[in-house]
Amino acid sequence: MGQLRGGCETVAVTITWNPTTWRDRPAGQQPDWPDSGAVETTLKTIASYPPLVFAGEARDLLSELGRVARGEAFLLQAGDCAESFDAFNANSIRERLKVILQMAVVLTYSAGVPVVKVGRIAGQFAKPRSADTETVDGVTLPSFRGHIVNDIAFDPAARVPDPRRLEQAYHQSAATLNLVRAFTRGGFADLGRVHQWNQEFVAASPEGARYNALAGEIERAVRFMTACGLDTASVPSLHEVTVYTSHEALILAYEEALTRQDSLTGDHYDCSAHMLWIGERTRELDGAHVEFFRGIRNPVGCKIGPTATPDEVLALCESLNPDRIPGRLTLIVRMGKDRIAEGLPPLLEAVRDAGHPVVWSCDPMHGNTFTSASGRKTRHLEDIVAEIAGFFAAHHAAGTWPGGLHVELTSDDVTECMGGGSAVSDDDLPLRYETMCDPRLNGRQSLDLAFRVAELLQSSH
Ligand code: TRP
Ligand code: MN
Repeated sequence: MGQLRGGCETVAVTITWNPTTWRDRPAGQQPDWPDSGAVETTLKTIASYPPLVFAGEARDLLSELGRVARGEAFLLQAGDCAESFDAFNANSIRERLKVILQMAVVLTYSAGVPVVKVGRIAGQFAKPRSADTETVDGVTLPSFRGHIVNDIAFDPAARVPDPRRLEQAYHQSAATLNLVRAFTRGGFADLGRVHQWNQEFVAASPEGARYNALAGEIERAVRFMTACGLDTASVPSLHEVTVYTSHEALILAYEEALTRQDSLTGDHYDCSAHMLWIGERTRELDGAHVEFFRGIRNPVGCKIGPTATPDEVLALCESLNPDRIPGRLTLIVRMGKDRIAEGLPPLLEAVRDAGHPVVWSCDPMHGNTFTSASGRKTRHLEDIVAEIAGFFAAHHAAGTWPGGLHVELTSDDVTECMGGGSAVSDDDLPLRYETMCDPRLNGRQSLDLAFRVAELLQSSH
């Protein structure tokens, strides 16, 4: 509904949605393209390309998330803070997928329900920034907004938004998704094989040793299935997985160019990924992002930070999911370990009492970022675990389902987050600090986290 003023009365009119109606709203975090003609030409080209995902797949994810909303499944959404145009190769895609699968096995076993796997992958290229410009030694340049917009090098030419990057993002997403599909169907995700990787982690690392008993239980469960004739290689459900794609739909012109009308239903889907989310900085109710999201039929997410009020969250629910479809809306809470105990319960109660069937997911990363003594942006694994524990506790008290986890990780042996069995310390941070944006858990810390969450889940059963 919009408001039209005529004479002295105010008349409410229904403004129909289409993929361009966001353009009439204030849109935060959009790049200042120097040549709008070149951008429009590129967008037309992208609009003529095939969709990256299909509406039917987005509907499958919607129904799986519907199960999460009902408390019958758990969501694991994980991947890079920002994907890079530079680290674009088969190894990097395979290794990122591998960590997600390893975490998923541990969580499936401990939660005792299916885990819906969604990557922050094949399109996670855009970053919101707190300032439009960055000043170093008296030189001011446009901020880095992710490889879909400009380059990270602090150099005037590199920081100019370049529309050719939109097209490169499309192609890189297509190639990444192609490999994800191939790996998840081709035996790479075989349950026995993924569990074997976890056994290696448990056997070879000091932090892993702690999880020997849990890994042993999973081992026996797999052997029991095999003994019963359910051989992982020959039973498709044990041999294959579905990994969906997702990213923050920040650059709305790009998302619009990939939005297609489904021929079966006539509904619009943003076919750049299966699931899209709105960031904490761009979730204004009357802003362009909420406007765009309200019309696409994909499952969508919205980040919820520590300042969100119950009224704001309810208004988001009404706007983004007026038909109350379970799984349509995932609220991704990122409050920080010190604020969740106080901040989350009023939101859980309000949404529960209003009868909105949302998926509650915990992003324990973004509210726990701090600058270390040596001046690096980092996060501590113990803080991350503490926020997740707070998330579970709040749900337990409200009688609601702690639906999932949203984490930033990489398989690489980076030293960006502190803590974990490998005990990355402040002194270690400079060793392999490679992120283009936020600090990510490395492969071992990610698995460590999955086992820690498994312990939390089991103690709450
Ligand atoms: N297909 C099932 C699932 O996706 C079981 C499974 C097979 C699995 N391989 C896996 C689960 C790898 C997690 C990770 O849940
Ligand atoms: Mn991030």
